[in-house]
Amino acid sequence: MNILVAGGTGFIGKKIVETLTSQDNKVFVLTRNKDQNKNLFGKNVELIDWNITDPILLSKISILIKLNGEKVDQFWTKNIKRKILSSRIDTTNHLYEFCNRNQIIPKQLINASAVGIYANNDAKYDYSVNEFSENGNTFLSEVCTQNEDGCGIFNSYKNIKIIQLRIGVVLQKKIISMLSLPLFFSIPVPGNKNHYFPWVHVDDIVGFISFSIKNNLEGPFNIVSPQFATHKEFFRAIISHKKGLLKWVLFLPNNIVKFLLGGMSEMLLYGPKTEPERVLKNGYTFKFKSLKDALSNLP
Ligand SMILES: NC(=O)c1ccc[n+]([C@@H]2O[C@H](COP(=O)([O-])OP(=O)(O)OC[C@H]3O[C@@H](n4cnc5c(N)ncnc54)[C@H](OP(=O)(O)O)[C@@H]3O)[C@@H](O)[C@H]2O)c1
Repeated sequence: MNILVAGGTGFIGKKIVETLTSQDNKVFVLTRNKDQNKNLFGKNVELIDWNITDPILLSKISILIKLNGEKVDQFWTKNIKRKILSSRIDTTNHLYEFCNRNQIIPKQLINASAVGIYANNDAKYDYSVNEFSENGNTFLSEVCTQNEDGCGIFNSYKNIKIIQLRIGVVLQKKIISMLSLPLFFSIPVPGNKNHYFPWVHVDDIVGFISFSIKNNLEGPFNIVSPQFATHKEFFRAIISHKKGLLKWVLFLPNNIVKFLLGGMSEMLLYGPKTEPERVLKNGYTFKFKSLKDALSNLP
């Protein structure tokens, strides 16, 4: 199969490109930095500029995977907020116009969204959500909503299946090291002990993308582990995983986190219990259900 991955140079993208090529697909990666990334992949991968100039090359593409977007974990100035939005939405329009102009007829569009779509400033700690729940009311929720709605433009392809991957926090060594640092020095951590931390291992994002292509799925899917962890349980799991850390965890008061981080604090202070209901009902089996196993196998 011929597959186009926009943002394939990123953390999730590199893993999915690696897997898809190992399954004998021809993969095209859309990137803003073709030169800089020229040695990133093997010969089965072709790097393409966003000002796509070679439509013939792409005419046989049947799957579009859209992972590109400005990072959200940087200080939310007005300019950054604008980039976070436009880097996800304008590129969808760009991709659609390109396909339309060049008679490329994709079978499936797999788009990266996030569990932030449910983020709600008034959420209570025992609030739980699944893919049928309402969208929230924060900046992240607005970004995810506009990002997902923007894909609607592809509905002009009669038989296309559109998938929204509502991804949780993808565990990585560097994130866990950053979160553990305060625990070495008895410094309170930002968080909200009874709220939930929706985590996932990157292998399960890759696994689910392959599964959804094979089974021609469509609709929204919460890509989070079915093993729930509150912020307190999450930090406790880090403590038992790493040696030499404090045996207890203190949380910074919410007001201080809000004062220090402004609007961005929503990423650290709120988290509903997020259920991957449609993922499980459609028959996907998570490789990493246990947080302990995931922490022992971090990329
Ligand atoms: N990682 C997580 O924990 C997580 C959680 C929830 C949702 N997600 C979503 O999943 C997607 C992939 O995540 P990731 O962690 O792989 O992201 P990543 O490592 O930051 O990679 C994203 C890619 O998007 C492209 N990009 C960055 N800024 C851009 C901009 N301003 N305009 C256009 N393209 C831009 C870059 O590719 P080039 O430089 O090659 O163009 C980059 O490699 C993102 O949309 C992210 O929001 C991730």
